[in-house]
Amino acid sequence: MESANSNRSNSFFELGLNRNQKIYSLNDVPVLGKIPDWLNGTFIRNGPGMLNLKNRRLNHWFDAMGALHKFEIRDGKVDYSCNFLECDSYQAAIGTGDLKFSEFATDPCKSIFKKVQSYVFPSLPNMTDNPKISVTKIGEKWMALGETPMQLEFDSKTLQKIGVSEPVPGAFSYKTTAHPHFDKQHAFNLVVKFGMISYYQIYDVANPGSKPLASIPVKKPAYIHGFGMTKNYFIITAGPLVVVPIELLFWKRPYIENHKWRPQDGASLWVINKNNGKVKAYYQTDPFFCFHHVNAWEEGNEIVMDINAYDDASIIQNYYLRELEKPDSELSIGTIRRFRLNLTTKKAKSEILSNACIELPRIDYNRYNTESNYQFTYGVSLHPQQRQGFYNSLVKINTKTGENTYWFQEGCYPGEPVFYPSPKSKSDQEGILLSIVVDTESSNSFLLILDAITMLEIARAELPEPVVYGFHGEFFPSA
Ligand SMILES: [Fe+2]
Repeated sequence: MESANSNRSNSFFELGLNRNQKIYSLNDVPVLGKIPDWLNGTFIRNGPGMLNLKNRRLNHWFDAMGALHKFEIRDGKVDYSCNFLECDSYQAAIGTGDLKFSEFATDPCKSIFKKVQSYVFPSLPNMTDNPKISVTKIGEKWMALGETPMQLEFDSKTLQKIGVSEPVPGAFSYKTTAHPHFDKQHAFNLVVKFGMISYYQIYDVANPGSKPLASIPVKKPAYIHGFGMTKNYFIITAGPLVVVPIELLFWKRPYIENHKWRPQDGASLWVINKNNGKVKAYYQTDPFFCFHHVNAWEEGNEIVMDINAYDDASIIQNYYLRELEKPDSELSIGTIRRFRLNLTTKKAKSEILSNACIELPRIDYNRYNTESNYQFTYGVSLHPQQRQGFYNSLVKINTKTGENTYWFQEGCYPGEPVFYPSPKSKSDQEGILLSIVVDTESSNSFLLILDAITMLEIARAELPEPVVYGFHGEFFPSA
């Protein structure tokens, strides 16, 4: 397996990243296997759709013009469609063949740039509005979310743009996350506000215009991709990949390259009371980096928090296209790290729950987020026998036992696995996983449906074209 697959890392790059998404729709996609008759609804996934502009290739996996992919599943049949996020950034990119707005790790060329940065400065006219990371429903609105302030509302039938909105309006410089947390009436999100004094703030973005629920001053804000939530607390974890805000003001290099890894500072964790916004406890720990929180809950006088952590931030370097296209490219190994934050002693302990590589972690969020009886995390992985190249398998991690179960198929590169429970499901493994797979053997992609108990294939819907390897999706069951 090892030698055969290592030769394919470049074929994955050409097929799954170094291309622009073909836009089309197809009814009655050929299905192998039998889709469960109870699985009726819409699976939508966000992510890169265009990494090669007419006049230049973008630098980083996170820079792309975004695209949405939709699979309508009904009575065992599948209809597919896709569309670019029709934001101003995309329109300008296809109109000029170049960037007009700053992205994560690529700036417009100097003649367009004119020293007016855009990634996190919403009051300036060339703010990027390319929310390519995740999808969600906030109220009745279907939203594509990114880290920049402007989010895109789209029509779930056509995937066309309805409008863009700023859930946290205000003429200040900030970024947010594509991973809000939900409870019955609220959609909470973290905002990093930049200034002479910067702030980490929590907002209820289901109530646009409302005041921040919490506000923590910070001198050197960290790059933060998500945050944690229990029933009564928010948890902000800030690894030492930090920026001096004045660097952003001068903006001599792309957004993320203004950040510096400062392991000597360690990581900072805040536990914040949801009711009054006050800091309940603060912790400093050994340095780590993470994109994704997995789950968190309260247990006696402790907060238990699982995150998808790395020892350092080199994974961001790994995701530059110039690195990913190398035949011998390697990714840093992220693992599930469990923190126990004692609210009385203010001491933090951590342990790695499993040796499996994992990224794009998902749980049965609707039923088990904030719940202590959560057990399983699913994600993309590097198979233990093939840790070179890009994510080549899916993994299910039993967080109680550390046991790992993989789905692997030679030449296949599965994307984020989205869990959806079966009708009589009584645990967070009784259900299915949905994942869009890049298949280098047949030069296309397919929607994979796995049994989450066994991690064996139930069915796949075969597309005629490859889907550019993306980020986050959601399954929305039919009403
Ligand atoms: Fe993410």
